[in-house]
Amino acid sequence: MKQTATVARIAETPEFPVYLRHAKLKAWVHEIAQLTRPDAIYWCDGSQQEYDRLCDEMVRAGTLIRLNSEKRPNSFLARSDPDDVARMEDRTFVCSKTKDESGPNNNWVAPAEMKATLKKLFDGCMRGRTMYVIPYSMGPIGSHIAHIGVELTDSPYVVINMRIMTRMGRRVLDQLAAGGFFVPCVHSVGMPLAAGQNDIPWPSNKSEKWIVQFPEEKSIWSFGSGYGGNALLGKKCFALRIASVMAREQGWLAEHKLILGIESPDGKKDYIAAAFPSACGKTNLAMLVPPAAMKGWKITTVGEDIAWIKPGKDGRLYAINPEAGYFGVAPGTSTESNPNAMATLHKNVIFTNVALTPDGDVWWEGMTKTPPAKLIDWQGRDWTPDCGRKAAHPNARFTVAASQCPSLDPEWENPDGVPISAFLFGGRRGDGIPLVYESFNWDSGTYAGATMGSETTAATTGAVGVVRRDPMAMLPFCGYHMGDYFNHWLQIGAKLNDPPRIFNVNWFRLSKDGKFLWPGFGENMRVLRWAIERCRGQANAMQTPVGWMPRFEDLDWRGLENFSRGQFAELMSIDTAQWRKELKEHDALFEKLQSRLPRKLQLEREMLGLSFA
Ligand code: OXD
Ligand code: MN
Repeated sequence: MKQTATVARIAETPEFPVYLRHAKLKAWVHEIAQLTRPDAIYWCDGSQQEYDRLCDEMVRAGTLIRLNSEKRPNSFLARSDPDDVARMEDRTFVCSKTKDESGPNNNWVAPAEMKATLKKLFDGCMRGRTMYVIPYSMGPIGSHIAHIGVELTDSPYVVINMRIMTRMGRRVLDQLAAGGFFVPCVHSVGMPLAAGQNDIPWPSNKSEKWIVQFPEEKSIWSFGSGYGGNALLGKKCFALRIASVMAREQGWLAEHKLILGIESPDGKKDYIAAAFPSACGKTNLAMLVPPAAMKGWKITTVGEDIAWIKPGKDGRLYAINPEAGYFGVAPGTSTESNPNAMATLHKNVIFTNVALTPDGDVWWEGMTKTPPAKLIDWQGRDWTPDCGRKAAHPNARFTVAASQCPSLDPEWENPDGVPISAFLFGGRRGDGIPLVYESFNWDSGTYAGATMGSETTAATTGAVGVVRRDPMAMLPFCGYHMGDYFNHWLQIGAKLNDPPRIFNVNWFRLSKDGKFLWPGFGENMRVLRWAIERCRGQANAMQTPVGWMPRFEDLDWRGLENFSRGQFAELMSIDTAQWRKELKEHDALFEKLQSRLPRKLQLEREMLGLSFA
């Protein structure tokens, strides 16, 4: 076994370093090991045997509970520490050289100061644990749109999740070869073990949590949390925060968007990428089952959270899903809301923070109309429907391979991506935003995306249900100044000879008495059909101050004949007073971004102001 002088006492398995030719990678792994002092270094090969072995070890350690293998073959439940249940935006930092570059949308500390803090935190933080080396590809291995990361972590839970969420292991090392570029990612749960100290099922650090991106050197450091986007560093940290910086430098887009295919009865196919804030139904939309009455219309799934989008030689945009799995919100998922997701979850799933049924299966709020009479809740306590507590945490998740999804698009791993015909922007808005409107052009669409508002959800810690501006659903994920990001969007659009059309949707508008005006879910197909037929020049619309809108007769109502013209009028209404208020909120956002706000967006704002004067 090859070992360097500096970490001579750290056992290193398997034997990969012997054949690994990437000197920089090897040196970095050993440098981090020297800092964090794990008991062993383990290079992940990404095999099924490795996955199974780690799962068995975690079952023995109490981190995982094996579910009933007849009901959920090869599936597990993990329960996190109650203080470690979601992304922590207030503990997330983008440490560019200057505060101005990271922008008012990010927390910032000077890189040198942050590095000094991290150095202290990481010093010896893996004692008593194994450091796993996870080489992973975001996107199909070898795709010109894909990129490689290497995560070092002391959490085997992270390893098994990364194996599902990314292409991971030896084949990625092979692709990296002797000198390929990779994004270095260091993660620790931040709970070293003293000699003889027993571990706990979900180690984390109660008082220190840090999720840090360094955009200039394109590195990621995460300390203290083992949950989701805080710990699976390929997802939000790399595929959005660091990738958005790379995309700006290299002329592409890294976006918080699902990608779906839409096929009409004549067999013609288009692709749409759609941005919604966390936990606003992206997974449901990506796997939508059209109403039976809309015969011949089909939706297929390319991705449900992140899209990497590059201009092609033909002047169109092409997108890949950089992920290989879904880390989806479980509560609310049911055979009614998302039959494809439920079918995807039949086997080989890691559930986190859902409830356990007496027969060893899982349950969460919304899975069935009537809850089971008895459960063990996400914190391991007895639960009955009248106990007054939620059985699953509202941000409980499933981790599952995309390859299990029945609606998976045949092109989902095409290394060249799929051509995008339309972008959708959507927030969760109970108040006056209409069901759908099409922006007049790329610039007004960029304005609409930039000024998007949405009610906050349980996907992040903090208040829930408060409307905040979440530009293009990227507020927590843009790795640089949001004003520069808008400018990048405008510039990308200007270079395309066939830019996607931009649509704005709101599935969540409420009536005066607080009821949803739109049934949502599969019925959203009616909006998708109109949007794609607009792209194809086949659908009509009327002009309004904010953009083009379908009239009642422009939508396909087959199967929803009892939805009245009156209901539609309420759903689509544009209330002047409400929009004036909305525009004031746009102003407040633009005020914050003033120093780098593109002039073009200010002009868009001025034009809208005239319409509502
Ligand atoms: C997610 C999120 O996990 O946006 O996808 O929070
Ligand atoms: Mn997301």
